[in-house]
Formats: sequence, structure tokens, C-alpha cells
Amino acid sequence: MTKKSKKQAPEKKKDPVKIKVNGQWHEFNIGVDIEPATTLSYLLREKLKYTGLKVACDEGACGACTVIMDGKAVLSCMKLAVEADGHEILTIEGLPADDPVIQAFANQCEPGYGTALQCGYCTPGFVMTAKALLDANPNPTPGEIKEGLSGNICRCGCYSGIARAVQHACGNHGTKGEKK
Ligand code: FES
Ligand code: FES
Repeated sequence: MTKKSKKQAPEKKKDPVKIKVNGQWHEFNIGVDIEPATTLSYLLREKLKYTGLKVACDEGACGACTVIMDGKAVLSCMKLAVEADGHEILTIEGLPADDPVIQAFANQCEPGYGTALQCGYCTPGFVMTAKALLDANPNPTPGEIKEGLSGNICRCGCYSGIARAVQHACGNHGTKGEKK
């Protein structure tokens, strides 16, 4: 009697990871395009070439890699690409050039506060954090702005200018709450 070989169950094909970035859906096959441990920051920078976000510390401590996911600021170095499956990501490249936050950062040069950027390395992270902050709270006090930006680091020390730029972006400078 011939021995019947056991039929192997066909390996279940994993669905691709689908992520919408700046309005456009992308698909990534796990094991082919990305690995299970691929970070969202790596995917955005190296696979999709959205190099505005920066990976400075790569451990959640500086905010340079901040992007907006479903309306909330997230540290893309601390998220796995697979965790973004089915979600919507906005990077700084997805903002229009006349975005009020971008404009406010670019124009900030007020005496007593200084500029909002010198080398600009931290700027995309600050801008995206500020965008999410103002979307959630369109009229924050200076204290709320400082608190909201407290996870972002600027090695050039432009903190006063950055906070002032965010106040200008929401048209709230000096109109509510605490003084600088
Ligand atoms: S690079 Fe992500 S928090 Fe520093
Ligand atoms: S402007 Fe240089 S790190 Fe912020």
C-alpha cells in the first residue's frame, strides 16, 4: 500500500500594510517591502522619501521625527510601520506652503523673542507638533503652547521664538492668559 503524503495547508498570505500618507495610499508587503520591526520613521524617510521629518535620537526623546497620525502628533521613530496600517499620516511635505504655522515659523524675527529657527533641523517636528496642538486647541495660552511643545528639543535654543511663532499662528499673542 502506498503511503499517502500529508497535504500541507497552503501558507496564508499576509495582507499588505496599507498606509495613507499625505493623501495617497501606499501598500507594503511584510517580509518584502518592510519587516515587522520597521519603524514608521524609516518607512516614511527611506521608502517614501519624505525626508522632512528627522531621526535625531531614535528613542522618543527629541520630537524631530514628529508626524501627525489621524490628527494626533506621534513620534514616528517610536511607531512600527505595521501599527500605521489603515491609518492616515501627514508629514510636513503634506502642508501647503502658505500654512499659517509654516508662515509663522518662517516670519518670526521679533525683537525680544528672536527667530523660530536657526539650523532648521528641529523645525519639521516642531511644526507638526504645533499643527496638532492648534487643531486640538485653536486658542492656547502661552503656557499651553509651552506645555504642548515640551516634547520637542531645539539644539539651537530657539524656544522663545518658536513659542512666539505658534502664538502668531493662532493669532493669540498676548491676548490670553499668562505672560511669557
Ligand atoms: S527621533 Fe524620534 S523622538 Fe527623537
Ligand atoms: S533650529 Fe537648530 S535645532 Fe532647532
